[in-house]
Amino acid sequence: MKNGTFITFEGPDGAGKTTIISMIAEHLKNVLVTREPGGIDIAEQIRKVILAKENTAMDPRTEALLYAAARRQHLIERVKPALEEGKVVLCDRFVDSSLAYQGYARGLGIEEVLTINQFAIEQMMPNLTIYFDIEPELGLMRINRNKEREINRLDLETLEFHQRVREGYHILLECFPERIMKVDASGAIQDVFQTVLKLIEEKVQPSL
Ligand code: TMP
Repeated sequence: MKNGTFITFEGPDGAGKTTIISMIAEHLKNVLVTREPGGIDIAEQIRKVILAKENTAMDPRTEALLYAAARRQHLIERVKPALEEGKVVLCDRFVDSSLAYQGYARGLGIEEVLTINQFAIEQMMPNLTIYFDIEPELGLMRINRNKEREINRLDLETLEFHQRVREGYHILLECFPERIMKVDASGAIQDVFQTVLKLIEEKVQPSL
């Protein structure tokens, strides 16, 4: 578990995380790209339940527990073995998503959601988290422009919800200043990419 580097990418929907992650992956050796919720079969099945548009009756605590369950399975089956092999793991979303979306935006409480996630992740926290900061209006506009992207249950939330998600991330930046690095994601892709690459190379270089 101790050899690899675990890097997670966070931010509101439409911040451009997925695009930047694939650009970063081309620049690094010995890398695994994965995502939450999902990444492996059991977690992809849980993802379908969480994000299905028809599941409007889902209770916020059920939602938080399902994300934590998917996270556990993905961590054990995919992330942990890759870290043990010394890989750089680039993971699109991790525990901070639950803290911002369920803990803060849904109002369950950041502490409470952290507690159920501690049971799921057993101290396996990322070495570095890149937070993509963007106005929710701009993020949602980007999502709507991308016709190939699936529209999920979370996308159907109000603008106010997405604003709270952003506020939640800003609180997390203050709680974890050593681990979470903020990047302005509103600019051109190439600029965002260069900034993110620099932050990652500072962490990963010695083990390449
Ligand atoms: P994605 O579109 O980035 O794949 O993520 C799916 C949605 O799930 C996105 O709106 C963020 C949300 N989400 C949470 O609410 N809590 C979580 O713990 C995770 C991982 C994602």
